[in-house]
Amino acid sequence: MPSVCLARPRILVFDSGIGGLSVLGEVVAARPDADYLYVADDAGFPYGGWEEGALVDRIVALMDRVIGEMAPDLVVIACNTASTLVLGPLRARFAVPFVGTVPAIKPAAAATRSGLVSVLATPGTVKRDYTRALIDTFASHVAVTLVGSHHLAALAEAEMRGEAISADLIRAEIKPCFRRQRGARTDTVVLACTHYPFLVERMRAVAPWEVSWIDPAPAIARRVVQLTGPAAPEEAPRALRGRALFTSGRTQPPGLVALVERYGLVPVAA
Ligand code: DGL
Repeated sequence: MPSVCLARPRILVFDSGIGGLSVLGEVVAARPDADYLYVADDAGFPYGGWEEGALVDRIVALMDRVIGEMAPDLVVIACNTASTLVLGPLRARFAVPFVGTVPAIKPAAAATRSGLVSVLATPGTVKRDYTRALIDTFASHVAVTLVGSHHLAALAEAEMRGEAISADLIRAEIKPCFRRQRGARTDTVVLACTHYPFLVERMRAVAPWEVSWIDPAPAIARRVVQLTGPAAPEEAPRALRGRALFTSGRTQPPGLVALVERYGLVPVAA
């Protein structure tokens, strides 16, 4: 049973940048009738290298502001680097339900046949206690390689803005995911940063062998439907579903504006 069942819920989707659009796309497909506010903390991007205490304070303060302004029915933290750190403090402070995005280690451990799984994430996510606990709880029978990429999120943003990204750069970032051990090879890679699904076809093209790439976005959309109920039938599909707020207040490049508009969002300055 959904805990709320709303005809037109207000859903806030949050990421450090535009990677969270990979989650937003699935959530919109599941609840096209909802009203959306997408918040990109581009003034703080990338989150991967932030000191943990400072990042918690930053995100809690930002949520104070945007939750106060929008009064959402549900918040999706579409960022692994944030979710693995601040879901606890956010749930303690706000009454609104939060859906987090955390490394999909459980489904990867269930799916692997070779027993070799890699988790491709930001440097912040790979060092979190939360990520270690997921491995201990769900993947103790599997060899898990944690790969903290310093550049992939920024490369994904550049590609999303329409810039040309070389295959060699992508190849170098994903190379440590591909392991051989006692005759077995990695067969499953968890995309544990919401930016990475935007590069998955490029990654596939330069991967040394074929693997399953696990994107958690469909599971997050299912969780949103569990909590808000199914979509109400719409008389006509809406072109505009909400706003995208960028904390930097910078004018966004045309490639990015076009991308955000494809999701039915109009960019607004903070
Ligand atoms: N999209 C974010 C994630 O899922 C991280 C990007 C960053 O800020 O480094 O982890």
